[in-house]
Amino acid sequence: MLNLPLSALEQRDDFIGRHIGPDAAETAAMCADIGAASLAALISETVPAGIRLAAPLPIAAAVPEHEALAKLKAIASKNVLKRSLIGLGYYDTILPKVILRNVLENPGWYTAYTPYQAEIAQGRLEALLNWQQMVMDLTGLELANASLLDEATAAAEAMAMARRASKSKSNAFFVDSAAFPQTIDVVKTRAKYFGWDLVFGTAEEAASADVFGALLQYPDKTGAVRDLTDTITALKAKGALVAVASDLMALVLLKSPGEMGADIALGSAQRFGVPMGFGGPHAAFFATRDEHKRSVPGRIIGVSVDARGKKALRMALQTREQHIRREKANSNICTSQVLLANMAGMYAVYHGPKGLQTIASRIHKLAAIFAAGLKGAGYTLRTAQFFDTLDIDTGDKTTALHAAAVAAGYNLRHVSDTALGVSFDEKTTRDDVVALFGLFGVKADVAALEASVALPASLLRTDAILTHPVFNSHHTEHEMLRYLKKLQNRDLALDHSMISLGSCTMKLNATSEMIPVTWPEFGDVHPFVPREQAAGYLEMIDGLADYLRAVTGFPAICMQPNSGAQGEYAGLVAIRRYHESRGDAHRNICLIPKSAHGTNPATAQMCGLDVVVVDCDENGNVDVADLKAKAEQHKDNLAALMITYPSTHGVFEEAVKDICATVHAFGGQVYMDGANLNAQVGLTSPATIGADVSHMNLHKTFCIPHGGGGPGMGPIGLAAHLAPFMADHAVKPTGADARSHAGQGAVSAAPFGSASILTISWMYITMMGGEGLKQATEYAILNANYVAAKLGLHYPVLYRGTHGRVAHECILDIRPIKAATGITEVDIAKRLMDYGFHAPTMSFPVAGTIMVEPTESESKGELDRFIAAMTQIREEIRKVEQGTWPADANPLKHAPHTQADVMVAEWTRVYSREEAVFPLAYVAENKFWPSVNRIDDVYGDRNLFCACVPMEEYSA
Ligand SMILES: Cc1ncc(COP(=O)(O)O)c(C=O)c1O
Repeated sequence: MLNLPLSALEQRDDFIGRHIGPDAAETAAMCADIGAASLAALISETVPAGIRLAAPLPIAAAVPEHEALAKLKAIASKNVLKRSLIGLGYYDTILPKVILRNVLENPGWYTAYTPYQAEIAQGRLEALLNWQQMVMDLTGLELANASLLDEATAAAEAMAMARRASKSKSNAFFVDSAAFPQTIDVVKTRAKYFGWDLVFGTAEEAASADVFGALLQYPDKTGAVRDLTDTITALKAKGALVAVASDLMALVLLKSPGEMGADIALGSAQRFGVPMGFGGPHAAFFATRDEHKRSVPGRIIGVSVDARGKKALRMALQTREQHIRREKANSNICTSQVLLANMAGMYAVYHGPKGLQTIASRIHKLAAIFAAGLKGAGYTLRTAQFFDTLDIDTGDKTTALHAAAVAAGYNLRHVSDTALGVSFDEKTTRDDVVALFGLFGVKADVAALEASVALPASLLRTDAILTHPVFNSHHTEHEMLRYLKKLQNRDLALDHSMISLGSCTMKLNATSEMIPVTWPEFGDVHPFVPREQAAGYLEMIDGLADYLRAVTGFPAICMQPNSGAQGEYAGLVAIRRYHESRGDAHRNICLIPKSAHGTNPATAQMCGLDVVVVDCDENGNVDVADLKAKAEQHKDNLAALMITYPSTHGVFEEAVKDICATVHAFGGQVYMDGANLNAQVGLTSPATIGADVSHMNLHKTFCIPHGGGGPGMGPIGLAAHLAPFMADHAVKPTGADARSHAGQGAVSAAPFGSASILTISWMYITMMGGEGLKQATEYAILNANYVAAKLGLHYPVLYRGTHGRVAHECILDIRPIKAATGITEVDIAKRLMDYGFHAPTMSFPVAGTIMVEPTESESKGELDRFIAAMTQIREEIRKVEQGTWPADANPLKHAPHTQADVMVAEWTRVYSREEAVFPLAYVAENKFWPSVNRIDDVYGDRNLFCACVPMEEYSA
């Protein structure tokens, strides 16, 4: 070592080897195993020469972990932290440290995937059920989903749900003019492409509107709280569905939307312990009445039973609904905000009803004291009945007061040239009120005003909330810590073993990437602060945009969409606006290959496009002849093609450039679904291939962890001609130049979506550098080809490219096994749990198959364990084929096995207990015990129950 040059000892690119699994010796061995002369040779055989990049990525060299952290810290410190009393859906909050460390900062929670494999996800499923119960209690409604992306998109989903469920013939939707401005912005965008008219007015005016639905805000943007019962009754009498956008903290005290007759209640749960983060990520809640359960957007967690009759949880009804219902799906929501919903639910578990009532009452009392002091000093308040927010007539003192507040460390809401708004939150103290009195020139004594209350008794709720034991048992830190650990132990996440979910990309989420997320410099920034206070954020966002420009080849990046499906929406909206600008508004046909992810047709439908399905050939490629024929047939109305590349069949199609050229020739635009961008980075790019716009799932390619089903970020890259049509923001325009815009409507609540998690992708790219990113792609391809070569001996690999190579994932065909033995892909998935692995993606994009995506981050050792498990499972299947084991009573059909299974006094199965739970030697060393047996999905859907189970039922 001492003879090495200093440059080698400096280890500047050390992180690349920490992120990528195989080392040099393993690489050589793996190449030999798959018959490739070298890694470079494998890549040449896999990626078509015609689309390869001519030059290295224009991204600087790797920066060591600690240096990258220091660099980002310096950028973060350019954010100026003030107490933001701006409100409008974002409020400062105190995240209990036990939740910060044990959920938000804990890979056991943040590296899990959406709970598709329910038997090894009972922990987060219980946490989500708590969330649903909390939302149902506070909104006074019968059913809640497991989160949506943000309040504004939840409002847009409510509008769409109202259209599905209402029998009204009207084409119009009513919007409360006092709804949050960002919500109105998003609802406008959505309504336009659905083709619905919007009617604006005050809540009082809503009663006389003839509409299929209405959105009311309670408390509204001015802070006003009014009883909506009569308005809701009048609207419903005319067949409209009424959605009430609300605030969970206010609902702790206020009469619920359900009690006032609302059909839907929605809003943001941010202030239940989730940092503001310059706009996100936060969980939106969405609750409704039981009669609308089949129209609900997003996922619902439900209770079912397992094979032993024990209560067990799983996703109900909507599981993967886009894959089944495609353009008829309720919405395109796929990734949502599970981690944040779990945090908010745990905030309620930790504080309990009394704790929440104390917090909500304190917030209200301080606001009421402030209001009384202002009134005493002669100010006119625009809001008489309020919870935490007041609008104050400040006349010609407005600008000076606003500036003095900023100088004193407070951001107030600039309502107009003659009014300011103030919203109090969990962090507000009596000292803050004293300071604000000083600013407003009020000479009042806080203690003397303590009797102030600004809510009439008629608006207070009288029903009990959060009565379930889960909200009344874990109030000491020990109890909370152990409850969190108990749930965590039931879940298999990346901290236990590889999760080879094809299309979902479960690569390393490095600790250094996660650390900045919880820095206060990023957490404590309101999305609508004056721009100069967010200089650090803007620098980080611009830096990341530069990286993403380099990766995609596109000149413009829109950082607003907060999931892949939202990116699809933002991209298709840009395409629609582009066609409109050229007098081509009639272009309404969207070509989508059969193999596409279900969100593609669901999104196209939301943009008012008609989906025309393009066939695939027997090799899994887009059927070019069919595509050409359909593009020509629809040439007068062709709007777009949505294509995933490499395809969801796991191959780099040779004809992709030709496909893009064909679409362009007939006047269409090419939307590239970027879910598989991780197989392109540094080797090719969407712009090189010929796409016009593409989203990037930062929660796949760029290391944002999946969080048990969110958060994610889906920024889009756009070619120059589409750049003027990307989303902007009504409250805070996203800025000129690099963040260019043209005053277009928003697609998400916050200007930069879930801004705080952009730090993760910034760190990843900075630490990998251009060369490291390219290597990551090469190793993703190597690992997939290694798995394909080894498992191809036991299960047919469905599709391969021209030279027999797969891309970054491969599909194993289980259909022949099913035909011969009755063993299905589900049985294999459940049996893998006994081996300590999460199943690959099942039955997407082809029913009866499994899709394995190992990612570059898995070492050869881990790949070999997975291969050994799948190989041994094939041997088990052979015993069924040969009649040694009965087709309906073997370890695959009984899988997964629990401790209850092996603890029976008398073992009567045809295989041993050891074969059941320790089928290979490595398993015993690090055994993961599924906490329930196989779950009965059909029972759960027939007996839909989506609330916390009464405790007696567990003991029964
Ligand atoms: C191919 C493909 N497209 C789109 C999506 C949707 O992305 P998101 O879940 O972030 O909305 C996915 C998600 O799994 C996907 O695999």
